[in-house]
Amino acid sequence: MDSIVIEGGTVLEGAVPLGGSKNAALPVLISSLLTADKCSYDRVPALRDVRTTLRLLSRLGVTIERDVVADGRLELTADKVHEREAPYDLVKTMRASFLVLGPLLARFGEARVSTPGGCAIGSRPVDLHLQGLERMGAVISQDHGYVDARARKLRGAAIPLAFPSVGATENLMMAATLARGETVIRNAAREPEIAELAAVLTKMGARVSGAGGEVIRIEGVDELHGVSHEMSPDRIETGTFMVGAALTGGDVLIEDARAEDLEAFTAKLREAGARVEREAGGVRVTGNGRARGTDVATLPYPGFPTDLQAQMMVLMSVSDGASVITENIFENRFMHVQELNRMGARITLDGNRATVRGVAELSGAPVMATDLRASVSLVLAGLVARGVTEVSRVYHLDRGYEDIEGKLARLGADIRRVDRDD
Ligand code: EPZ
Repeated sequence: MDSIVIEGGTVLEGAVPLGGSKNAALPVLISSLLTADKCSYDRVPALRDVRTTLRLLSRLGVTIERDVVADGRLELTADKVHEREAPYDLVKTMRASFLVLGPLLARFGEARVSTPGGCAIGSRPVDLHLQGLERMGAVISQDHGYVDARARKLRGAAIPLAFPSVGATENLMMAATLARGETVIRNAAREPEIAELAAVLTKMGARVSGAGGEVIRIEGVDELHGVSHEMSPDRIETGTFMVGAALTGGDVLIEDARAEDLEAFTAKLREAGARVEREAGGVRVTGNGRARGTDVATLPYPGFPTDLQAQMMVLMSVSDGASVITENIFENRFMHVQELNRMGARITLDGNRATVRGVAELSGAPVMATDLRASVSLVLAGLVARGVTEVSRVYHLDRGYEDIEGKLARLGADIRRVDRDD
């Protein structure tokens, strides 16, 4: 298994390009199931999760042309879908596989999808997905860890979500595009990835309005047609590099970044003392001495994103003063805390609340990645720790970051990937 080795003490400077958004690409690629026409996508990131999604779509019978790794371009055609089952071996490695349920049900009237099960950051049930589909007339049963769903023809329904779940909003929005009548999703997730999926569905002929707000209306149509779409830049990768610049006291231009999608996060970074400026070419972040301790609470969009909580915690761990970080979205998203404490951080946990007391500096150590965003926070910590940090199990990192060690090295980091065959 690969590890990443970092010699701390460098300052990040220069310009860094962004990959396509992972959390937009996964539902968008899956939405190709809704039409028999060819769908073309650009700026698709070459990530492990994208490869898992393509393996799943291929197993269902979707034709895949072009290779993402080559140039980010991908063509999918779901005119020969012969399978309706998303198997456990794929769904267990990537929860987003569960998003094939809505499209398969809407287009073919049946689907058998493994339930994702828990993961490192929490139990992550799918009850909101299933309740919404039942409101649309689906007959759903569960056995042997699988969800069986059937519906001759889904019908539009009023669906109040108990929680603004991103995945449930995406699954239900896709299902509703081919239902009979109007679906109204209330308390919908408002993340930018929802608006991007809605834009792609609209380009395919769906009738969707209100995406990005808390009420989304979808008027069902008989069929959807093909689409050509370029993915937007990755919002969480943007925030990750912004923290890296602030953390190392550097000066980094994150090219093509969309500052408007990260306002709550940017406000907190400024509160901690970093300078964040919008420029024609993207967002520039310059460090400004030691950060100030700042309290953070993660919330559904437009609040502070849970996917940037671990990264912010690293900045707070070497700030002046203390910070309280409250994780309101997932019940166990502090797996990075023990590892950071092994590097000399002073973080104590009390339920979903972490108290971070800033220390003068971290010390390099061998640490282990447990989930995608925890692993990148350990890389960030290695950038400022004294001495060498080795992050093992970086396959977690490869799920959501394309060549992050190359990008950081080009910004001046002393970082390399090593193959540990243990
Ligand atoms: C998406 O996950 C993202 N993944 C996550 O990013 C992100 O952290 C999360 O949204 C929140 O923003 C993708 O987009 C592929 P949710 P998702 O449904 O859809 C509970 C990353 O690092 N819930 O909004 O699974 C759930 O348990 C990943 O890129 C239910 O209770 O998130 C969780 O506590 C990690 N019942 C909360 O809602 C349900 O039916 C948020 O889950 C569904 C969700």
